[in-house]
Amino acid sequence: MGRIARKDRACWVLVGGRRRLGRALAEDLARDHDLVLTSSGPWEGETWVEGLSGTARIRTLQWDAESPELVSRMMADLDTLEAEGWVISGAVLLAGTFPEQPFGTWTAEGLDATGRMNLAFPFLCAQALAPRLSEGACLQILLDTSIHQPWLQRLPYSAAKAGLAALVPGLAQLLAPKIRVVGHALGTLLPAEGSDAGFLADRTLLKRLGEPADLCRAVRFAADSPFLTGEILTMDGGRRWMDR
Ligand SMILES: NC(=O)c1ccc[n+]([C@@H]2O[C@H](COP(=O)([O-])OP(=O)(O)OC[C@H]3O[C@@H](n4cnc5c(N)ncnc54)[C@H](OP(=O)(O)O)[C@@H]3O)[C@@H](O)[C@H]2O)c1
Repeated sequence: MGRIARKDRACWVLVGGRRRLGRALAEDLARDHDLVLTSSGPWEGETWVEGLSGTARIRTLQWDAESPELVSRMMADLDTLEAEGWVISGAVLLAGTFPEQPFGTWTAEGLDATGRMNLAFPFLCAQALAPRLSEGACLQILLDTSIHQPWLQRLPYSAAKAGLAALVPGLAQLLAPKIRVVGHALGTLLPAEGSDAGFLADRTLLKRLGEPADLCRAVRFAADSPFLTGEILTMDGGRRWMDR
């Protein structure tokens, strides 16, 4: 079987490439990339993906962080892609949850769930994907500006993202020089349901929220910057520099 990645068209994996920022990134990248998109659920009924298939080659996969078969599933899917000749030259890990877990409500189960989704899952995805990435590929991981100033109502989430802040430089060392690793510590681009967008905007130097296009630009910049690795780019409208 011929190699599917075309010379002028990179093929990337977006873990969590179905909703919100993942979908926005998929729609942007599909202009000039072939894409493998993952979701925790089955993909039926996602007509926007069929729309993308006009320009890009799209493969959809089901990778559920909660599934006991997750690792074997990832390995089997990546084996199949490789056997079919897909050459993966980039991956972005977007999947996560953003649970409100105020001090006093913490339970072992709740903390496990937040850690499993926001820390263990990216670790496992990175471990599965890295050996399959082609020379010069960039692995990008989505963090949160909470690595600088934790969300006080979401400390378990903030701590999990802080764990990813250790993963980025560590993995960059383990995978160099073949693969680069870059993190993105985002401020609010798409507010969570029920959050106060005006308040969040006011808590930035720029007095506004970001937008998905900001992430698309940053991801393309990281992929196109061959001397960049082990770094976390903070893009939060200056939230981290606000006085408390
Ligand atoms: N939105 C923002 O403004 C913002 C700000 C700072 C940081 N971030 C970070 O950017 C990334 C994307 O954020 P987002 O707001 O677009 O999305 P999100 O709502 O935080 O979640 C991303 C995706 O994770 C997937 N997911 C949920 N449970 C899963 C499971 N059990 N297994 C596998 N995947 C699962 C979901 O997709 P499926 O339902 O298709 O599985 C979901 O759409 C996240 O890592 C987030 O922490 C976002």
